[in-house]
Amino acid sequence: MRMYDLIMKKRNGEALTKEEIQYMITEYVDGKIPDYQMSAFLMAVYFKGMNEEETLAMTQAVAHSGDMVDLSGIEGMKVDKHSTGGVGDKTTLVIAPIVASCGVKVAKMSGRGLGHTGGTVDKMEAIPGMRTSLDREEFFDVVNKTGLSVIGQSGNLAPADKKLYALRDVTATVDSIPLIAVSIMSKKLAAGNDGILLDVKTGSGAFMKTVEDSIALAKEMVSIGENAGKKMAALITNMDIPLGHNIGNSLEVIEAVETLKGKGPADLTEVCLQLASNMLYLAGKGTEEACRALAENAIRSGAALERLVAMVEAQGGDSEVILNPEKFEKAPYVYEVKAEKDGYITHIDAEGCGIASAMLGAGRETKESEIDYTAGIILHKKTGEKVEKGDVLAALYTSKEELFEAAAEKYKKSIFIEEEAPKKEPLVYARVT
Ligand code: URA
Repeated sequence: MRMYDLIMKKRNGEALTKEEIQYMITEYVDGKIPDYQMSAFLMAVYFKGMNEEETLAMTQAVAHSGDMVDLSGIEGMKVDKHSTGGVGDKTTLVIAPIVASCGVKVAKMSGRGLGHTGGTVDKMEAIPGMRTSLDREEFFDVVNKTGLSVIGQSGNLAPADKKLYALRDVTATVDSIPLIAVSIMSKKLAAGNDGILLDVKTGSGAFMKTVEDSIALAKEMVSIGENAGKKMAALITNMDIPLGHNIGNSLEVIEAVETLKGKGPADLTEVCLQLASNMLYLAGKGTEEACRALAENAIRSGAALERLVAMVEAQGGDSEVILNPEKFEKAPYVYEVKAEKDGYITHIDAEGCGIASAMLGAGRETKESEIDYTAGIILHKKTGEKVEKGDVLAALYTSKEELFEAAAEKYKKSIFIEEEAPKKEPLVYARVT
């Protein structure tokens, strides 16, 4: 087999066989296919696409390029959730404890922040003492004991994806639906869960900017998962504005805890309840209505909060800050952004807010940058609200006073105030199964 012929075949719009795809991924990971040939192939996929069989074959090949996690040491059905990434997305910290308290195990590998989006692992590390790197045995022990564990991704999970993603990033081939589907689903298949709920974000703070593209991506991923024998569903959720009010690591943990206490913002609470009930549904916990009732009761009874405390303690974290979030270390500097005119907030550019939060120290500038866990933004006003000149729109938090000016400028540019109230957008646009 020659890579040249495979590039030519795809360039001409033909489908590759499973064997050809397996050959290409194996040889690429072994360094026998150079980046320039793989780049040409990726660009051909960008223009010509891949059919269902090719996408599944490529996902399987990429998944098998590294460790395939075997979760059979954990009893019962294990359900995972994957978000395509957003701003203020702290849902894992809310729904994993809800689902675990309803008797479904959550053995989850999460990521760090990427670009303007935050990552669950960084948020968890805002809890003093919290360990997110556990070996297999300890990971299983924590899940068996507490019902859940969230850790960072193992170093050798789908190494072919790491190489391909880095290449896509510099060859303008990231925003291809089949390539995104392969990238996400290869890591999900390698992570070994029985069921996977996908939270495909859509809007200004998301990777997919339109509902149509998000649905197309969700369909592709659900079909890959089902063909690989997994129970699958996807929700298309709104990421046109940040979720909840808090952006930034410890600020988001605080808001997640408030939500588990039943005092969270309405949008975050509703999205979490829908995600959690869909995970319970995938795990066979009853009808959609019964699963919703289970999820609501897990918050009302305090059972979900207890699960979070148990996991935090089992992973070495200080549960005092979960029980009393006011004990979280506070940023020494706070700056208020005020409305410059009267009107309605018609739009909040979520990506801009995420960048402003990262500029305050909540995200990394380079891979080596240290995160300021106290940094971030609390939104006091969100889309649809009426404001008067001088009203506080948001509070910006940081440990480095010199970071305010540029971050505040960025934040102000992300808020749009106009005379007419905007149309209300749904929180969840669709469910794809
Ligand atoms: N997230 C991933 O893991 N891969 C992509 O290609 C896009 C988003």
